[in-house]
Amino acid sequence: MGWWVDHVVPRLTDAGLSTPEISTLRRETCARLAGRVLEVGFGSGLNLPHLPGAVTGVAAVEPSDLGWSRSAHRRETAPIPVERVGLDGQSIDLPDSSVDAALVTFSLCTIPVPDRALRELRRVVRPGGRLHFLEHGLAPDAGVARWQGRLNGLQGRVCGGCQLDRDVPALVGDAGFELLELDQRYLPGPRVGRPWTYGYRGVAG
Ligand SMILES: C[S@@+](CC[C@H](N)C(=O)[O-])C[C@H]1O[C@@H](n2cnc3c(N)ncnc32)[C@H](O)[C@@H]1O
Repeated sequence: MGWWVDHVVPRLTDAGLSTPEISTLRRETCARLAGRVLEVGFGSGLNLPHLPGAVTGVAAVEPSDLGWSRSAHRRETAPIPVERVGLDGQSIDLPDSSVDAALVTFSLCTIPVPDRALRELRRVVRPGGRLHFLEHGLAPDAGVARWQGRLNGLQGRVCGGCQLDRDVPALVGDAGFELLELDQRYLPGPRVGRPWTYGYRGVAG
């Protein structure tokens, strides 16, 4: 799966996660970010156009070289500096309390041990700083959740390790964040797509 994950998954991600509806959710997620922002799972930089003017720079953590190279145009046209500071959100080479805020979108599903990454974010974000997140994850309906469990193996193989049933609010809370805002719901679409479409958008501090 190495070739698939290295060369195909970043392109699938780019196409699948840049729909108008998801772009609206990205804009809502990024609203009120300010200062130096750490983004874990930067991907191809799809959040860059949605960052408000109060953001002064982005410290990006992204393991995929293809994802990073596909972000080149967005980085070059962004009005702020974007620096790749690492390859693994589970171990971030930044000092404690060194950024003003953190952003993570559609990545807690894929990072192998998401609680480690969230604890790293808790460590690196300064006191009073916020984590803004937009993720898909565990559905509240038992039938849908059962399907998420059944589909996890296939999903992981096709989508670079992505898991469908991570309990995002629980992970965020267990890492020491307090949930300040949470909007959770299915995105519009056919019922059969529900294992993939239960979304969480929130702010934690
Ligand atoms: C579905 S993509 C989402 C990309 C981007 N955040 C977005 O919203 O378009 C998941 C991203 O998580 C990244 N990723 C996987 N493992 C990671 C890790 N250990 N640390 C940081 N990012 C990781 C992948 O390379 C990929 O860019």
